[in-house]
Amino acid sequence: MANLVGAITTSHVPAIGRAIARNLQKEPYWRPFFDAFAPVHRWLGQTRPDTVVVFYNDHGLNFFLDKMPTFAVGAAPTYTSADEGWGLASVPPFEGDQDLSWHLIDALVEDEFDITSCQEMHVDHALTLPMSLLWPDQAWPVKVVPVCINTVQFPLPSAKRCYALGESVGRAIRNWDSEARVAVLGTGGLSHQLDGQRAGFINKDFDLQFMDSLVEDPKWATQFSSRELVEKAGTQGVELLMWLATRGALGASARCLHRNYHIPISNTASGLMLLAP
Ligand code: DHB
Ligand code: FE
Repeated sequence: MANLVGAITTSHVPAIGRAIARNLQKEPYWRPFFDAFAPVHRWLGQTRPDTVVVFYNDHGLNFFLDKMPTFAVGAAPTYTSADEGWGLASVPPFEGDQDLSWHLIDALVEDEFDITSCQEMHVDHALTLPMSLLWPDQAWPVKVVPVCINTVQFPLPSAKRCYALGESVGRAIRNWDSEARVAVLGTGGLSHQLDGQRAGFINKDFDLQFMDSLVEDPKWATQFSSRELVEKAGTQGVELLMWLATRGALGASARCLHRNYHIPISNTASGLMLLAP
């Protein structure tokens, strides 16, 4: 059976892509953000996952407001990035893991999640930048399975439902008839709001409590509705749903091997966690 080796959660702010393109990783503004990935690189070097399941939210590249699945699972042979208007360089294509994709799709539908399966899928900054943070040379040594959660158009899936989705994905990975080592990556958050009267809103107290909860009381945030999460974390901070799904995949208990929290990167409170089962 496959081995779920651990989970990583990180922010995915587009400005990260511009900093990488301009080689600004050691500049004072960027250093506290990029340096925090060193322990994650060491862990990846030791753990050497074969495949990464990525919980992320598309921001209008692959899905637009005309068609908005709540949960979508990639089942493509390859995934490519494309111009989103942020001025980001494109990255090399990602090789899909179609065997795991279809296994997850089967298991999720069996668990009564009415997901959308996608045999063609563009992936946006929410997948390409976290992958570039994990593997800065962009010579991806892993296959990927993207799992997309709608945080763009209301109604959003509840925190409780996203956690349960993650639990189902985690069970399916562990039941997968394969010798593969699988890591889970969740991208987005933490608190940020890009528009409206509260543009620039950040809630450090909430973010830190949320990060603590993922180890001590992982279902803590599932008590909140999506609207309450928007109130606490900002309209885009609700991307923390990706972190909840990722944590759900790890199962009952998890150890925190590394974490970082840094304010701000662009308009966002950036967070990073490395969790092991
Ligand atoms: C920013 C953050 C995001 O999560 C995103 O998708 C786009 C922009 C920002 O803070 O600039
Ligand atoms: Fe985002």
